[in-house]
Amino acid sequence: MDVVISPSILSADFTNLERELGRISSADFAHVDVMDNHFVPNLTLGLPVVERIVQVSPVPVDTHLMIEDPDRWAPGFAEAGAASVTFHAEAAQAPVRLARELRRLGARAGVALRPATPVEPFLDLLAEVDMVLVMTVEPGFGGQSFIEGTLPKIRRARAAIEAAGLDVWVQVDGGVSAATIERAAHAGANVFVAGSAVYGSDDAAGRIEELRTLAAG
Ligand code: DX5
Ligand code: ZN
Repeated sequence: MDVVISPSILSADFTNLERELGRISSADFAHVDVMDNHFVPNLTLGLPVVERIVQVSPVPVDTHLMIEDPDRWAPGFAEAGAASVTFHAEAAQAPVRLARELRRLGARAGVALRPATPVEPFLDLLAEVDMVLVMTVEPGFGGQSFIEGTLPKIRRARAAIEAAGLDVWVQVDGGVSAATIERAAHAGANVFVAGSAVYGSDDAAGRIEELRTLAAG
């Protein structure tokens, strides 16, 4: 499965988003973390800013919605032109209906799991989504350490996808760097979010290339 690199702009300079998006033009997606200060104890940006990001980003936009009531709010991000819209399984009331609505609106649908949320209750949902996001840190902040204990869940998610014969991407997000990306890839992830590892580098393009090479093994 192809390696997909989606740098997180959470570690970018929020006063210069257009310039910061330009630094990751060699990536596959721009990962945009939407936090509402309720689902997670942090607040980032919302729909009006994502609408503008979609217009100026050199790469498709991968939104990660760390918000309550995604059933109500997530479709707006698809309507805004986000290529991928990922909602949290813990927050959605009707995840199948929501995933279908996102796809109907032309977006890839993703479902995210916090580190402590098992994948097994959501296996039936895999047939309805394009991606499962296994969080490898507790969502809310950039710059945290990769939780090694999530590796078995990545393996179980990938095994379930293969057993069902599905074409579903497995994304990892949190603490992904040159030091951790190979373990995540070996466990079965193919979509890699990296915030501080990319934006903390003077050479973002070089770092993206390095991560791509390491993940490809
Ligand atoms: C955390 C966000 C991540 C964050 C990752 O809740 O979902 O996307 O930007 O940052 P790093 O790569 O620095 O761990
Ligand atoms: Zn994220």
